[in-house]
Amino acid sequence: MGVENCKLVELPVIHDPQGNLTFIEQKRHVPFEISRVYHTYDVPGGARRGGHAHKACRELLVAMSGSFEVVVDDGEKRDSFRLNRSYVGLYLPPMIWRELVDFSSGSVCMVLASDYYDEDDYIRDYERFREVATGLES
Ligand code: TYD
Repeated sequence: MGVENCKLVELPVIHDPQGNLTFIEQKRHVPFEISRVYHTYDVPGGARRGGHAHKACRELLVAMSGSFEVVVDDGEKRDSFRLNRSYVGLYLPPMIWRELVDFSSGSVCMVLASDYYDEDDYIRDYERFREVATGLES
């Protein structure tokens, strides 16, 4: 999977003068069944999160509040996305190295994941990731 498969997904918005509402339905707005939801918060200025790839897990990242930058890398190409709207998600297929940087204060990143947490699904070493992603090593 290349970085061209990382896609921004516009989520439905129900506009209301009393406040807007956004919803996410599995297999409609995310192309997988949702097994897990987690969020990061109280992220200090200058922090970097991510720094890994998943072998199989697929994810949708949403900036529920504030903003941050997601740098994606497939071992050959890089791209980056600034998430700053709670009605826009970033879909990440498997085997994408991601770094989350430049968090605004008070930002909250919610992640919908296709799989339960499994440390064996992570690749946390970039050189190892690059070898696997570019087919130098399986
Ligand atoms: P990690 O996925 O590396 O966080 P991020 O990508 O946001 O930088 O996870 C950080 C720690 O939290 C790591 O020790 C694993 C643990 N963790 C869980 O126990 N369950 C989870 O669902 C997640 C996402 C992480």
